[in-house]
Amino acid sequence: MSHSVTAKPLTARACGPLRGRARPPGDKSISHRAFLLGLLAVGETKVSGLLEGEDVLNTGRACAQLGATVERLGEGRWTIRGMGLGSLLEPAGTLDFGNAGTGSRLMMGVVGGHGITARFDGDASLRKRPMRRILDPLVLMGAQVLEQADGGRCPILLKGTPEPAPIEYRTPVASAQIKSAVLLAGLNALGRTTVIENEASRDHTEKMLTFFGASVMSEPFGAHGRKITLDGRPELAPRPIVVPADPSSAAFLIAASLLVKGSDIVVEGVMMNPLRTGFLATLLEMGANIEILDRREEGGEEVADLRVQFSELTGVDVPASRAPAMIDEYLVLAVVAAFARGVTRMNGLQELRVKESDRLAATAAGLVANRVKATIEDDDLIVEGGAGACPGGGLVETHLDHRLAMSFLVMGLASDKPVTVDDETMIATSFPTFRPLMVGLGAEFS
Ligand code: S3P
Repeated sequence: MSHSVTAKPLTARACGPLRGRARPPGDKSISHRAFLLGLLAVGETKVSGLLEGEDVLNTGRACAQLGATVERLGEGRWTIRGMGLGSLLEPAGTLDFGNAGTGSRLMMGVVGGHGITARFDGDASLRKRPMRRILDPLVLMGAQVLEQADGGRCPILLKGTPEPAPIEYRTPVASAQIKSAVLLAGLNALGRTTVIENEASRDHTEKMLTFFGASVMSEPFGAHGRKITLDGRPELAPRPIVVPADPSSAAFLIAASLLVKGSDIVVEGVMMNPLRTGFLATLLEMGANIEILDRREEGGEEVADLRVQFSELTGVDVPASRAPAMIDEYLVLAVVAAFARGVTRMNGLQELRVKESDRLAATAAGLVANRVKATIEDDDLIVEGGAGACPGGGLVETHLDHRLAMSFLVMGLASDKPVTVDDETMIATSFPTFRPLMVGLGAEFS
């Protein structure tokens, strides 16, 4: 939703040990894609475990505006009856994606490869985010940008092409959103669309397209990259989608249990896709006591239960090459680093500047507001840890960014003085059950 509601501050204070089991909500990336592929397949796609956060619900509404029938059957259980590739309706009104970069960018790919025109818009945060990175390849494929604000920002009026040109595109940054937009537009191309990325980004689009019957080839490219080739005009057949728990949401529970003395929790069903486990790898390097239990497969992804106990952590150097596998987790990692012994240096964070907020600047500011020594050097964030303690006592500006809010609330559960975030409302975009889930484990908010 674009219309900002009144800001609601929330305070987290030091609490007793966190205990118990909790399952974070469904993965946001997979939930968006479930709706979008449901729209593009003919017939009924059944989804269970869908994240019912505002971002995903906005994507569902946009799919309905393009002609799909989207229905909620019960908690996390949805069906979407798609119109099929090439048969989308031109939406009557604006597609309002609220805060959702993923929903809007992937849908630009869908619209860009169809003979329809749609207006994209969102909240003040989305309106600041760069969309040229998506529009550039779509224009190469034949789409036209009829209207745009301020150098490729929303609101954007995009005219798609019914016959997108199959292109080979090298993404300028490792971004699953750019890759996915090109592949989704390429679905309707007569021929092969290829995307090359220098660093591998999350592969949920490729995996789900394959699951729905498309021919997608993914091969290594260079030292860390991938080359993905998609054959256009596939028959997309609906398949049931089981959404695993979101590792990016699990990160807040994991961090809280590591930081609050005496904690011992189990986080259930967490997706272990190797392109999403950079945070876990970093925590293990820092000395975190995390046991990976019951590795199994759910809905085509490996998942596991994670037993997380309070740990004394040591600062580490996080290589820039790990960024795509933990891009959304740096905020909460910075909070964890504030409690570690020694310095943590997070390298190569330029992409954080163009997320829901300028996360590099906002995270550093939040740390400093809580009397943690944090500096930015070029695109690196350096945090000096307090060896088990963190002063806290700050008021953190969240800039319409859900992950900033949750990260600093986690800080407040373990810091000497309470931490207040200026607005908790955006948490509903990705993790609407954050507060009850955390309270169920023993967290205290007021
Ligand atoms: C996402 C990709 C990431 C991530 C975002 C979700 C996706 O963005 O930050 O929260 O679902 O494709 P980039 O790929 O643009 O870095």
